Amino acid sequence: MKFFIDTAEIDEIRPLVDLGLVDGVTTNPSLILKSGRDIFEVTKEICDLVDGPVSAEVAATDYATMVKEAAALYDIAENVCLKVPLTPDGLKTCKHFSDQGKMVNVTLCFSASQALLAAKAGATFISPFVGRLDDVAHNGMSLIQDIRTIYDNYNFDTQILVASTRHNLHILESALIGADVATIPPKVVHQLFKHPLTDSGLAAFVEDWKKTGQTISG
Ligand code: G3P
Repeated sequence: MKFFIDTAEIDEIRPLVDLGLVDGVTTNPSLILKSGRDIFEVTKEICDLVDGPVSAEVAATDYATMVKEAAALYDIAENVCLKVPLTPDGLKTCKHFSDQGKMVNVTLCFSASQALLAAKAGATFISPFVGRLDDVAHNGMSLIQDIRTIYDNYNFDTQILVASTRHNLHILESALIGADVATIPPKVVHQLFKHPLTDSGLAAFVEDWKKTGQTISG
C-alpha cells in the first residue's frame, strides 16, 4: 500500500521523505489555509521534494472555472495530480483531463455509488473520507471494503486512496482490505512506529549493552 502524506507543511514532509515513507502528498483548501502559504509556491516546493503524485485541489465548483484552474495547477509540475470534488461538474472535469492522460483525484467521496461514478469518469484516485464517516456514526472502513469489491468486480483501474485517516487502525484496516493508497497526516505516520514493547525492549538492550563495557566501531 502506498503512503501519501496529508499535509501542506514542508517541514513535516521532509523527515518522512528521508525515512523513505512518502509515495505522494495530498493537499486541500483547508490544508493550504493551515500552512499559511501561497498554493502555487507551496505546491511547487512539495512537487520538487516528492517523486510521486501531489494532489492540488481546484477552488471553483463550476466546470468552466475548474478547467481553467486545472490548467494553472497542472502547470506547476509534472507530478501534480488534479483534485476535484465528487459533483457532476467535478466528474466532468475529471473526464476532460483523464481523457488526456492526466492524473485526477476525485475527493469528498462518502458512498460506494459515488466511487463507481468516479471510476467511470476515469479517475486515477478516488478519495473516500473514512474519518468523517466515523464522525457521523457510519462505518468508514466498510465503505473501503465495498469500493474494493466493486472495483475488483469490474477491473476498474481507479486506485482507492483512503482519506481522512485519523489513527493506526484506519491504516491497518486499509492495508488488510487491499486499498491502493492511504493518505495519512504526519502525526499518524509517527504513531505507526509506536509499540510499548519496542520501547521497553530497546531500553533493556541499551542498559545490557552498557554493562558489557564493549563498543562497536567500524
Ligand atoms: O485529504 C482530505 C482529508 O484527508 C481530510 O481529512 O481529517 O479533515 O477529515 P479530515
